[in-house]
Amino acid sequence: MSGKAPCRLGVLVSGSGTNLQAIIDRIESGEINAKIACVISNKADAYALTRAALHGIPAIVHENVSFPERRSYDAATVEILRSHKVDLVILAGFMRILTDVMVNAYPNAIMNIHPALLPSFQGLHAQQQALDYGVRYSGCTVHFVDHGTDTGPIIMQSVVPVEQDDTEETLSARIQKAEHQTFAAAIKLFVEGKIHVDGRRVYLT
Ligand code: GAR
Repeated sequence: MSGKAPCRLGVLVSGSGTNLQAIIDRIESGEINAKIACVISNKADAYALTRAALHGIPAIVHENVSFPERRSYDAATVEILRSHKVDLVILAGFMRILTDVMVNAYPNAIMNIHPALLPSFQGLHAQQQALDYGVRYSGCTVHFVDHGTDTGPIIMQSVVPVEQDDTEETLSARIQKAEHQTFAAAIKLFVEGKIHVDGRRVYLT
């Protein structure tokens, strides 16, 4: 028998969950020494929940309708994460902005994937923003979450070319392929203790 207990991940989702699937596959193949302790969705119909259930991972619907405001929703999310002993929170297409309640509960331990090369094209429809601006290259960014929106310390980025005939859909699909690799690589570094943060700078060893 070898080694440390696997890092416990809590994955927050809102949609299809292709990034979640990429993480599940790499854990099951032994590439990432982690365990997904729970998947939490703010949408009851997110296909990501089915993906989790198919792999025996607790899949929790946690809708925001019954919460009076965002901070109380986040406080309840933190309780769920703590009850599953989560070490690292993964935002894998979670389409809500976090409040200080979540950010303070997991300092430099919440990772987000964004479909652009930050700090360009923050917020929603980043791929369409890139097309509208006319950039030749876009990509994806994995970063820690801080108190801003898509502003936290950058862990990894991958560059993806923009083709002249791209639509939001074709560019998104190309970026998503890069996301699956990049997110997994960043998570692997984290669980192996190979990420050190100093202010805005992130050092990988
Ligand atoms: C991903 O492309 C991710 O970059 C994006 O949502 C998609 C989720 O896809 N996230 C954001 O735009 C966050 N601002 P998935 O559910 O198939 O992993």
